[in-house]
Amino acid sequence: MGSLADPPGLERRGASEGTQRAMLNILDDFADEKRHLENSQQAMLNILDDLDTEKIKVEVERAKVELINRHLQDEVGVRKRAEKASSRLAAIVASSNDAIISESLDGTILSWNRSAERLYGYTEAEAVGKSIMLIVPPELRGETRKMLARIAQAELIERHDTVRVRKDGSCVDVSVTLSPIKTPRGEVIGASAIARDITTQKRAQVELQRHREQLRALTKRLERASEEERARVARDLHDDIGQLLTAVKMDLIWIGKRVPEEEREARQRLSASVQLIDAGVRSVRTICSGLRPSILDDLGLAAAIEWQANEFSSRTGIACRVALPAPKFALPSDHATALFRIFQECLTNVSRHARAGSVDVSLSREGEDLVLIVQDDGHGFDGAAPSSSLGILGMKERAQTCGGEFEIISSIGKGTTVAVRVPFYTDTASQDAKADAHRG
Ligand SMILES: Nc1ncnc2c1ncn2[C@@H]1O[C@H](COP(=O)(O)OP(=O)(O)OP(=O)(O)O)[C@@H](O)[C@H]1O
Ligand SMILES: [Mg+2]
Repeated sequence: MGSLADPPGLERRGASEGTQRAMLNILDDFADEKRHLENSQQAMLNILDDLDTEKIKVEVERAKVELINRHLQDEVGVRKRAEKASSRLAAIVASSNDAIISESLDGTILSWNRSAERLYGYTEAEAVGKSIMLIVPPELRGETRKMLARIAQAELIERHDTVRVRKDGSCVDVSVTLSPIKTPRGEVIGASAIARDITTQKRAQVELQRHREQLRALTKRLERASEEERARVARDLHDDIGQLLTAVKMDLIWIGKRVPEEEREARQRLSASVQLIDAGVRSVRTICSGLRPSILDDLGLAAAIEWQANEFSSRTGIACRVALPAPKFALPSDHATALFRIFQECLTNVSRHARAGSVDVSLSREGEDLVLIVQDDGHGFDGAAPSSSLGILGMKERAQTCGGEFEIISSIGKGTTVAVRVPFYTDTASQDAKADAHRG
């Protein structure tokens, strides 16, 4: 503080020093304050930093929980859907008209539906846990074991027709489809067997087969009767009409010799009548060979085929090349007739439908069979198309009545080939065969 003795300047200087100190103090205080603030700020940043890390951690944890939640929900959904599907499947299995059984690879029955109960007579409780051999007849047990071994190799066995035994001991015809049961990893752990009762179907098949055989026997008898009738008519025509015409011709010649030269017109008429009778005799012969060529009975199949081929060529103008076998063969006469009639129908079809330039015919031995092939180079036809005509059907029937096979291969633009295979007999002592034994 200034005194009266102090000059005013001194007083002012003292005051400014005080101010200066105060200012310095304030500045010091400011610096402290700033440091403090900076420290606080750093502390805040550190806290914020820590807070951020925590937040991220929390976020991550929440995301994890959400993921697990969704996964669980998905799993629950999948399980629910699987449960639904499996209960639907169980309902289908239960209500199926087919007997459905599942079994382990050693043949232990694991499940048995209601149709299995109905088909085999055992209840589910009676069957489950037992061996599948419960319903397999003793003679088919080996087969069943083999099938289980195939199933173990993941093989599918479809529509296997077999027999099963019911609880009451009766047999039932069934068609079984066996499929492997696999784990999701593909490991085979058992088999499912779906069986259908085919007793009615089997019975119908047997009945159909019986009818077919009857029909075949009837056809055979009809054919034989028809051949016999043809042969009889041919014989009568040849013997009666042929002889009659010959006798008339002789008489006319006799009369001609007695008609005087000057009766020109009468002599001309007689000569014309003789020519007409010659034409009649030729026509009777043609009709007779058409009915049943005597060559077939006299010289056998090969010669008859050759003769028929020549007749065909001269009648139609279509070249017909014939290749016949060198070795001897003997054929029952029924079979020879059947082959000859098939050959005639082939040629008729060629002339009616094929518009062919030529036909190749071969008759050869293949093992125990005699094979006739007739091949034309005509325009062919769609062999798969259904046809109501009887020619091809008749050929097939004839081949089958001889225990043989018939095949016709044709396609449009590629000609037609007929192949017939019938067994022949080398046992020439046989009555039938002896009658028809011939050289090809
Ligand atoms: N060689 C062939 N070339 C071309 N088409 C043929 C030949 N053979 C048969 N076909 C065809 O097959 C059909 C059936 O022949 P199929 O012999 O059964 O009867 P069809 O000759 O018509 O009458 P039919 O009952 O009098 O014999 C014929 O209508 C014809 O269209
Ligand atoms: Mg025909």
